[in-house]
Amino acid sequence: MSQHLWSGRFDSAPDPAAFDFGVSFPFDRRLFEDDVTGSMAWAEALHRAGILDAKDADAITKGLAAILEQGRSDPAWVSGPDEDVHSFVERQLVARIGDAGRRLHTGRSRNEQVSVDLRLYLRRRIPLLQKKIAAVIQAFADQAERAGDALMPSYTHMRRAMPVLVSHFLLSHAAALRRDHGRLEAAREEANALTLGSGAIAGTGYAIDTQALAARLGFSRVVANSMDASSDRDFAATFLSAASLAMVHLSRVAEDFILMTSEEFGFFELADSSATGSSMMPQKKNPDPLELVRGKAGRAIGHLTGFLITMKGLPTGYNKDLQEDKEPLFDVEDTLAVSMDATAAVVGKLTLNRERTGRAASGLLLATDVADYLVARGMPFRQAHEVVGAMVRGLLADQRDFEDLTLAEWRTASDLFGDDVTARITAAASVRARQTPQSTHPDAVAAALAETRSWLARQAGL
Ligand code: ARG
Repeated sequence: MSQHLWSGRFDSAPDPAAFDFGVSFPFDRRLFEDDVTGSMAWAEALHRAGILDAKDADAITKGLAAILEQGRSDPAWVSGPDEDVHSFVERQLVARIGDAGRRLHTGRSRNEQVSVDLRLYLRRRIPLLQKKIAAVIQAFADQAERAGDALMPSYTHMRRAMPVLVSHFLLSHAAALRRDHGRLEAAREEANALTLGSGAIAGTGYAIDTQALAARLGFSRVVANSMDASSDRDFAATFLSAASLAMVHLSRVAEDFILMTSEEFGFFELADSSATGSSMMPQKKNPDPLELVRGKAGRAIGHLTGFLITMKGLPTGYNKDLQEDKEPLFDVEDTLAVSMDATAAVVGKLTLNRERTGRAASGLLLATDVADYLVARGMPFRQAHEVVGAMVRGLLADQRDFEDLTLAEWRTASDLFGDDVTARITAAASVRARQTPQSTHPDAVAAALAETRSWLARQAGL
């Protein structure tokens, strides 16, 4: 007997069908490093509280250090018939140092331990995801730089709206990803609280200095309530939510470039290295990586939804259902990581077809500029909208553009039009007419690019 951390109370071995069902070691082995880190600090805390003598504390700390070393140099060693990673580490410790190892779990429960492990894990892993987000932002900034003064149409309702700089469009995705970066930071901070000292639910019966323990483990604070700590994994849900939103943004990036690299748009060209061919149709150059990113967003959202549903009916206290936090969390982490990498690679190698985007940026989408021209000369906007609407109707019927109109024709529409109108009504003049810092005015976009670059430099320095 006594193969499990809890065998003492039972007079028969567990039914494999039931026990194997509850085993989490195949996936919670990812928490190995954090479990050992947490246990080392716990042993020190027990010693400082006078519960472990110096000899035992020292044996435990050295034993755990050796276990950490072995697990790091040989990750495949972190495996076995154990119920979970906590049981594995304890078994290895007892095998190494004997009885002293059996004192480590004094005053501690796996309920708080698994929570602390997962918090340490997120604290350590979220910065790696943030680096990958920064790499995508970098790819957009580099493309924005290269795009220079190239113009393209913007869209509302997927219909041409107003001319914008291509760089403004590219930086729009960078702006959204910056928020994802910030949301992951907030998720990291939410996870950054020590649960040890909570015991199984009521708090531990030993005088552990939890503030010192939190400081030792680099936590910014201690949880406020032991029952809450044992019952809740909302910090995991916050991570899933932040990561899912980042996937939503990547999915929209993917959709934009799937469309804009198509034969119909031809605004950008996918690098051969970012595309795949068809087994049947020799002409095909498919945006598979982008489609997969778009598809995987659904998977992340599914994990978030699934875990929220897992938590919603739980009575207060630890419930084994909470073990269902880890597989979605790890999968979403992996999914976000590979999706960011793929997106950075594809975006970094896009080629802009500035001739096509420029051509698509002029034409009837200059109608708002024509109306603004009239407003600048005193016409009320509603009336100007009416006048220009009628002009658009005529141009559509004749299959012509504003650029084709002679001055006489302009003046037929309204005698407020002067001979500067042909210079004013172009895509380049349209973007220069925007006046706010968040607009596509070339100076505003240059400032946004510079701000993005300095943010990236700060991230690289962290
Ligand atoms: N694998 C468990 C989890 O993830 C660890 C805690 C187990 N606690 C218990 N009382 N069975 O939640």
